[in-house]
Amino acid sequence: MSHEVTARKTKVIAVGNQKGGVAKTSNLIHIATALGEMGRRCLIFDLDMNQGATRHLGIPSESFLGTFEVLTGEEEPTDVIITPDDGVELPKNIHLIAARRNLEKIDQALAARDKFLVTQDVLINPLRKLAGMYDYIFLDTAPNATTPTIAAYKSADWFILSATPDPFAIAGLNDALTDIQGAQRYGNPNLRLLGVILCCVDSRTILASSLTEYVEKLFSDGSKSLKFDTLISRSTVVPQSQKLGKTIFQTAPNHKVTNQYRKLSKEIEARIAEFEEPVTTSTIKSAVSTKRGKK
Ligand SMILES: Nc1ncnc2c1ncn2[C@@H]1O[C@H](COP(=O)(O)OP(=O)(O)OP(=O)(O)O)[C@@H](O)[C@H]1O
Ligand SMILES: [Mg+2]
Repeated sequence: MSHEVTARKTKVIAVGNQKGGVAKTSNLIHIATALGEMGRRCLIFDLDMNQGATRHLGIPSESFLGTFEVLTGEEEPTDVIITPDDGVELPKNIHLIAARRNLEKIDQALAARDKFLVTQDVLINPLRKLAGMYDYIFLDTAPNATTPTIAAYKSADWFILSATPDPFAIAGLNDALTDIQGAQRYGNPNLRLLGVILCCVDSRTILASSLTEYVEKLFSDGSKSLKFDTLISRSTVVPQSQKLGKTIFQTAPNHKVTNQYRKLSKEIEARIAEFEEPVTTSTIKSAVSTKRGKK
């Protein structure tokens, strides 16, 4: 007898790097859009006061209540989700909680609220309330350790690092790694680094290939590297579509980079499945029998 499961097992994925302009937002938007195309329901939660994700999706950023009101507890997260029913165009299966400039004032607003409020934990309850509604919730973080960004580390299940093949972006990965370890130690032991995306890769340059190799090794445990195999090429289609407030799935659906995001999203889903694989009796049995066989 089969039981119908209505609630989705929501995976919360933060995308980050302490360095600015390393394609965090472009990667997040296009991975979510590719997953949406595959039928997964995705929510993008814009945690950056510069509203990168909100703008990239072409949403007039001062028109909707969003992240600030959710973090201060003025609004329920479910009440501020932007969908096509709000008269805006969004990619298939993508919803948004938008950021506005008022996020700049989040620290003062939270400080005024209650002296016992732990600001780093302000995302935990809203995400609990959204659990089950989406397959994926993507947290777009700022390039510095703002309260909403730290809160993302404290509440996400998975972390994806975003880098471009330039030495500063690679250096930023180390700071982000330290923060992931800090979050694991101080309150979010479940946070796990899912992988590293290299974006804006120009395979013709020697620097790009040597830095790609460097990242491959830096995130390798000897047998496998956490760097995703799919690299995202540098192309003007991305900044052009960003300026239009559209994804490249809308402006260039058959472009090489669009297809790379389709491939990367499959790789991400496969990796989550691999990492989540439960240790079953049969796995233990087969591991035991392999050991015995080796004797
Ligand atoms: N594949 C690509 N090819 C060329 N340019 C790209 C590509 N991906 C992103 N860009 C451009 O790089 C710039 C930075 O990208 P994006 O805004 O996604 O970075 P970010 O890390 O989110 O920045 P911030 O730290 O300011 O939030 C943008 O102008 C974007 O259009
Ligand atoms: Mg950004």
